[in-house]
Amino acid sequence: MESTEKKVPQHVSIIMDGNGRWARERGKERVYGHLNGVESVRAVTEESVAQGIKYLSLYAFSEENWNRPQEEVGYLMELMMKSIAGEFENLMKNGVRFVVLGNRARLSATLNGAIDTLMEQTKDNPNLTLIVFLSYSGKWDILQAAKKLALAAVNDPHVLDNLQIQDFDDYLVTAGVPDPDLIIRTSGEQRISNYLLWQGAYSEFYFTDVMWPDFRKEAYREALAEYARRDRRYGKVK
Ligand code: IPE
Ligand code: IPE
Ligand code: MG
Repeated sequence: MESTEKKVPQHVSIIMDGNGRWARERGKERVYGHLNGVESVRAVTEESVAQGIKYLSLYAFSEENWNRPQEEVGYLMELMMKSIAGEFENLMKNGVRFVVLGNRARLSATLNGAIDTLMEQTKDNPNLTLIVFLSYSGKWDILQAAKKLALAAVNDPHVLDNLQIQDFDDYLVTAGVPDPDLIIRTSGEQRISNYLLWQGAYSEFYFTDVMWPDFRKEAYREALAEYARRDRRYGKVK
């Protein structure tokens, strides 16, 4: 039997989808789904630590999500604020480093302040890096990277000599983070919705009909088991 050791992904990423439909199915407002989704975040974070996964990243709010009704956007930002305030002890207990990536200029000063504080407090935690993508989109990330590179090249044209694909990685907001091995999307949708376009170039995809508020440890373990059965070839022949 092949060892299962190396079959544990280093980086799992999740497009947390289906909160609104989950709530509607229960005759509740969409925001009730967002509220219940927080418990799923806690569950997959704990399970990631238990499984020895080093990076867990979560697509929490896309650049496109700013176009939702103002009420829902406001609720989501409020919920983010509350979760950040409430999670400190849990993150410390589990040794989790908290990181937010995205277009942070669009977030409020209060939320940015709370994020910075939690990132600083948890920065030395060794078990798992939990990345929350907030106001993020893949095209936005590639564009901001291209702008940074263009500026660097204006200052020193030699930057472009021998520029490798790996060098471009360093201009993305995910610099230093390994590419996701596995991208999970809940709720039955099978699309990338402008998520990790560059970084997901060779990720394994796992789609499940389970709505995000119902995606707990058992559903997560099933996804990880499926990943362990995948054969990653990277264009080569075995
Ligand atoms: C995911 O659930 C959460 C966010 C995108 C913020 P949705 O809010 O997209 O729920 P559905 O897909 O409409 O059911
Ligand atoms: C993708 O979900 C974004 C997040 C989960 C944060 P959406 O619900 O916004 O995506 P679409 O609209 O179905 O593509
Ligand atoms: Mg959705």
